[in-house]
Amino acid sequence: MPARTTESERRMLRVFAGQTLTPPPIWLMRQAGRYLPEYREVRARVRDFLELCYTPELAAEVTLQPVRRFDFDAAIVFADILIVPDALNQTVRFVEGEGPRLDAIRSAAELARLNPSATRPKFQRVFETVARVRQDLPHTTALIGFCGAPWTVATYMVEGQGSVDQAGARLWAYRDPQGLQRLISLLEDVSVEYLSGQIDAGADVLQIFDSWAGNLPDDQFRHWVIEPTRRLVGRLKARYPTVPVIGFPRGAGPLARAYAAETGVDGLSCDWAMPLKFMAQELPKHTVVQGNLDPLLLLAGGPAFESRVAELVAQFAQRAFIFNLGHGIQPQTPPENVARLVGLVRGAD
Ligand code: CP3
Repeated sequence: MPARTTESERRMLRVFAGQTLTPPPIWLMRQAGRYLPEYREVRARVRDFLELCYTPELAAEVTLQPVRRFDFDAAIVFADILIVPDALNQTVRFVEGEGPRLDAIRSAAELARLNPSATRPKFQRVFETVARVRQDLPHTTALIGFCGAPWTVATYMVEGQGSVDQAGARLWAYRDPQGLQRLISLLEDVSVEYLSGQIDAGADVLQIFDSWAGNLPDDQFRHWVIEPTRRLVGRLKARYPTVPVIGFPRGAGPLARAYAAETGVDGLSCDWAMPLKFMAQELPKHTVVQGNLDPLLLLAGGPAFESRVAELVAQFAQRAFIFNLGHGIQPQTPPENVARLVGLVRGAD
């Protein structure tokens, strides 16, 4: 069982024990990836992105790369939210320059073809990556396991790709809520097992990515974002009461307050459009706030970047806070800007 006490040597975990740390812990969403030349070198050795995710030795290596380079307070296991549909036997491909493509699920018959009992061998590879990373990580670095939230994963499974408005999943929700609920329930079940396996292998914090939470009317948001997340978190907490869970309901706006209060998450990762004042004042007092620098500002660098970083750190000096971006790092980001960010947050000039 991971330590989650105020004495933990992992600063990231001390924040979840209620401590306000100066400087705050820092890690970045998508911290492993194409902006790093050493990632591109490893990526070039495999045929496609999923092969990288399923080769524990290489996935562990790219997980560790940004921690070595920038000494982040946490590593996040190198995998993808679409490993879950892939492990369920839905066909998932990553097309170079176009993003993910799945054989879209459009009917109950196609839904019935998903096979939860087939997931083990692929999940096992991710668990092995977690175990390898834990072995090689400094003791002071936390290890984050993750999955996509049921709603966001379902949008990809139903659309067959990323989309601007998630119309396929939203229409299914209106026309046949019970049918969509079967998919959501299946994803809850599989995600509990997937995250539990990551904890057993050595993950000591979890993050649930709900990247497409922001496009729903409030009643739908409650039904498809808050409720599935609450059930998922509840089932994890019953097994692992001390492992902190961070939720990332991207685009939730003011609904983030209900999300933080009702899902049982310990931390809320805020996107870059969330006002700092809202983050500091409107979220439940016990919720750890994570975020929310605009990834484009990190890419741009310069005086606007430097002053916003200072503003963010100052805004949360009195609150349990983890420095992060408001979404994943952009591939064009100069690595020097990331080094500068870590220096600024840690108080070096
Ligand atoms: O460093 C980390 O954060 C860990 C690894 C990680 C990846 N994807 C690696 C990845 C994590 C946590 C994710 C989460 C993820 N994947 C999300 C949720 C967060 C978000 O960004 O909203 C989503 C929606 C996905 C689905 C996905 N995977 C898309 C849409 C794409 C294509 C876009 C792109 O950037 O190419 C991916 C591919 C992907 N996942 C890459 C990486 C490093 C790039 C693939 C490559 O190297 O060719």
